[in-house]
Amino acid sequence: MPRKVIAIDGPAGAGKSTVAKELAKRLGYDYLDSGALYRAAALKLMTAKLDGDASDDKIMEILKDTHIEFSNGKVYLDRADVSERIRTPETGHYTSVFSTKKVVRDFLQVLQKAVGNTADLVAEGRDMATVVFPNAYRKFFITANEDIRAQRRFNQLNGKVSFTDALKDVRERDKRDSERTVAPLMKAPDAIEIDTSNKDIETVLSEIMRELA
Ligand code: DC
Repeated sequence: MPRKVIAIDGPAGAGKSTVAKELAKRLGYDYLDSGALYRAAALKLMTAKLDGDASDDKIMEILKDTHIEFSNGKVYLDRADVSERIRTPETGHYTSVFSTKKVVRDFLQVLQKAVGNTADLVAEGRDMATVVFPNAYRKFFITANEDIRAQRRFNQLNGKVSFTDALKDVRERDKRDSERTVAPLMKAPDAIEIDTSNKDIETVLSEIMRELA
């Protein structure tokens, strides 16, 4: 039986994860970071030495024996905790590449829907409101301007990349996430848009809580 889902979508660095995690905690809902599932799948495919040119058959051959689970804020790939390993810039790049593929999205969509059938959920990603949970109880689209998102990414990576590279990465990911043919990043017509550029987390959360009241 589908449960109550609050869907939160938006581009990289808009603050979705922070907001979604805290919202789930306050509501007593489960939290699903769908990007972590995409990252784990990409890590598996990278480890198998596949790249963006790999055929669907080759990708499926690897994924069909792959176990991915998101539980208590951690992501497990074939039962191993890969929560840290999936956060490297290299995995981020490959995730953005592999997530353009229908074969990957179909595989992960089954997992995501299963989570939505077992618990009330705050689900965050790129296509939560448009594709995976079109009947979500509430939908939000979280944005922020490009420079601010790049700055957040720069801070998050703790000096591992320059600001210029963080900005370049944000632009590349926006382009790939929005222009892909399968499940592109877009605001669902019935989603409420929140720009977090000059807002702190408490302000954003109270806007969301007001909408939910
Ligand atoms: O949210 P994130 O930065 O961890 O996402 C990593 C990549 O995964 C991002 O480039 C787009 C992709 N992604 C997706 O295509 N669909 C989702 N629902 C979540 C993430």
